[in-house]
Amino acid sequence: MSLRPEELRSHQWWGTDGLRSFSHRARTRQLGYLPEEHLGKPVVAVLNTWSDINPCHVHLRDRAQAVKRGVWQAGGFPLEFPVSTLSETFQKPTPMLYRNMLAMETEELLRSYPVDGAVLLGGCDKSTPALLMGAASADLPAVFVPAGPMLPGHWRGETLGSGTDMWKYWDDKRAGLIGDCEMGELESGLARSPGHCMTMGTASTLTAAAEVLGVTMPGASSIPAVDSGHDRMAAASGRRIVDLIREDLKLSRILTREAFEDAVTTVLGLGGSTNAVIHLIAMAGRAGVSLTLDDFDRLAREVPVLANVRPGGGPYLMEDFHFAGGLPGFLSRITDLLHLDRPTAAHATLREQLAGALVHDDDVIRVRENPVAPEGGVAVLRGNLCPDGAVIKHIAAEPHLLKHTGPAVVFPDYRTMQRTINDPELGITADHVLVLQNAGPKGGPGMPEYGMLPIPDHLLKQGVRDMVRISDARMSGTSYGTCVLHVAPESYIGGPLALVRTGDLITLDVEARSLRLEVPDEELERRRAEWTAPPERYERGYGALYSEYVTQADTGCDFTFLARPGEVPDPYAG
Ligand code: FES
Ligand code: MG
Repeated sequence: MSLRPEELRSHQWWGTDGLRSFSHRARTRQLGYLPEEHLGKPVVAVLNTWSDINPCHVHLRDRAQAVKRGVWQAGGFPLEFPVSTLSETFQKPTPMLYRNMLAMETEELLRSYPVDGAVLLGGCDKSTPALLMGAASADLPAVFVPAGPMLPGHWRGETLGSGTDMWKYWDDKRAGLIGDCEMGELESGLARSPGHCMTMGTASTLTAAAEVLGVTMPGASSIPAVDSGHDRMAAASGRRIVDLIREDLKLSRILTREAFEDAVTTVLGLGGSTNAVIHLIAMAGRAGVSLTLDDFDRLAREVPVLANVRPGGGPYLMEDFHFAGGLPGFLSRITDLLHLDRPTAAHATLREQLAGALVHDDDVIRVRENPVAPEGGVAVLRGNLCPDGAVIKHIAAEPHLLKHTGPAVVFPDYRTMQRTINDPELGITADHVLVLQNAGPKGGPGMPEYGMLPIPDHLLKQGVRDMVRISDARMSGTSYGTCVLHVAPESYIGGPLALVRTGDLITLDVEARSLRLEVPDEELERRRAEWTAPPERYERGYGALYSEYVTQADTGCDFTFLARPGEVPDPYAG
């Protein structure tokens, strides 16, 4: 099937009789285009999250040119739209606060402008889910161009992972093992090229999810950002979107329940970021697919971790993963766990897409008989402390802490934690359980990545590098440790986490998938009756809107009015 020019959505803007079409044609002459350059052609919106402030996307200005080259080659008409940039490093309090804003911007741009399909450029953590959530709601044909990982970092003969080694060396500095001179060198060594974090952090996890969902060109997600192959992939994406528009292959035909199950299996088998749990649930919701924490827990038990990439595995980085076969190579090892007969943007089926995929290094992408971990990288916990669930990346935790009972040390908010954690008066030992409250979706707001609470200085100096930590926050995909995250419902709205007091015993048992507060129910009821909600962090503005409408972690932290099903009229419909 091939759409005729008058069947294109953009035809309503340019191709009809009447004043409006005449005016749009006149304004397109103003843009410098002749009628034969654009009339009747598929119009491709190139949504670009490039910005001077975003080192992960700083090369995307060039890549957009490559995408446009591909669109022109295939007979389309490309139009670039600058959209919000979500820089994980620079945007405070957390870009998670703005994921839904970019999703909303994406959806509304695609709906309100004369666009037949979209190429989405992004990759730094929240950009991938945001762009795909918005595009799924707009439901046009779309191709995602992942920004690609930066090159591996280097320092004094060691290979560095951008986030993971930053935490590690910062702890070394706090423990007095290295000084300012070393830190100065590390500043230049940790992140040495454009591109997103090159560990299996949130960015690499989510772009891999996009690839297995079927919305990128095959093998796209691991191409290093500055590799010439990245330019070629961008141009190929531009050519492909024009065909997708002509075939009228909308995202809703690609983003199916089966596709999301495969994405969950993949991120778990990659030992990927815990953030993927929230984002995949939110993305699935936009596609009308119900995905739950239970899906993650069920699939985690079926798939082993095969990617030997930091921080979940190690010691490799994304460039090693790419040259070992990339995601197609990885997927070729778990084909029995995938739905191979579903369509992708690039091929009629995933099976076709993976034909010929090979692994070139069995240490980087392990064989099933020799996994990095026998089961998926994220476990879902339940119990009286988290009735709606919590998650832990147990493969990045010290094994002796995976079953642990200890007394809580409670911090009511992040600033109090920062101010007091090194206070000797608290008497914190390695057996204590650090608890952070009020860092969830509404309480943060935006669930900042506070979940890897720092180990107190005096314990670091004794060589303690991990403790049980519990919060309703998230943690960076490049972080590690025994950190229980995404506790739902969050403490700010009176979830049981709000009722924990210093000295209460808490039991974590990952094998039993359980997290318990060892306090009698009657006592908890008494505390609940006394509990009052903390004051609102934002009295006005976007933060206030966010706090009012954001959903809990177990349902993806979307806005209620964006997540719910329902029709939105096409702007030309009435
Ligand atoms: Fe952008 Fe890590 S800071 S991906
Ligand atoms: Mg991150």
